[in-house]
Amino acid sequence: MIQLQSGPVEVGGVTLRNHLILAAGVLGTCGSSLARMLREGAGAVVSKSIGPEPRSGHAGPCLVVLEDGVLNAMGLPNPSSDFRGELDQLKGEPVIVSIFGGNPDEFGTVASWFVDSAAAFELNVSCPHASGYGAQIGTNPDLVEACTAAVSRFHKPVWVKLTPNVTDITTVGIAAQDGGANALVAINTVKAMRISPEIRKPVLGNRFGGLSGKAIFPIAVRCVYELYGACEIPVIGCGGVSSAADVLELMMAGASAVEIGSALRGNPGLFREITGNLYGTDGISPAEIVGCAHD
Ligand code: SIN
Repeated sequence: MIQLQSGPVEVGGVTLRNHLILAAGVLGTCGSSLARMLREGAGAVVSKSIGPEPRSGHAGPCLVVLEDGVLNAMGLPNPSSDFRGELDQLKGEPVIVSIFGGNPDEFGTVASWFVDSAAAFELNVSCPHASGYGAQIGTNPDLVEACTAAVSRFHKPVWVKLTPNVTDITTVGIAAQDGGANALVAINTVKAMRISPEIRKPVLGNRFGGLSGKAIFPIAVRCVYELYGACEIPVIGCGGVSSAADVLELMMAGASAVEIGSALRGNPGLFREITGNLYGTDGISPAEIVGCAHD
């Protein structure tokens, strides 16, 4: 397998310790778990999404493990502005704060709480199952541009995490770019559902949820490939990554860095495992790999 040169890398206005980033929502609800993922070898970490009001989330069951993925409908539970205290122990670390809102003003308000503690913001315009938030913003290019612009005015790097649940993801990526985004993150979960034959009812309390894990990796590859071809700003791959080979494949599609989420379930040492395989003393320059499938 190809190996890369190791070392810090600058992507979307943030200096990452390596190409691997903890994805939002997984082990990112408190400062100590974010710090642990950095110690375990993540190049940067993204927090759980923080919104304008505290939320307890959807009624359970909220998460179901499937054969090749995870179906969740957490419902954006978060402590809102109280999350600030969690970041006290992470000053100077590469922590990206994921934020959401129902309109540009709410995005601006939430961003204002973290201007001094975030290395960057990741805008969640892509959760597929939270009424008034997430993909309800992220399927409307005008709203995506306005929400991105509302956060860009803080002069911190802005990453926009996109939903695959659209006909043309490049239209939304270009809208984020026009709003001042420094990077695009592709993809959030795929809207999905399972029904239990035993109880003859949906398995999730919210009925619909978002599918992550191995099952969605080919969708992530396709979305990263399309965005790399259509946009000028860096693309960060996300969705079903569980190995160094997956990281390289997303980089060949056009990803400058890669987020990892579901595969950490039950394997918190995964960052160390992947970096051990991804980097080598005779490694090639990452620039040779990023987007090479387009040539
Ligand atoms: C959730 O908290 O509901 C998941 C967040 C997301 O899908 O973006």
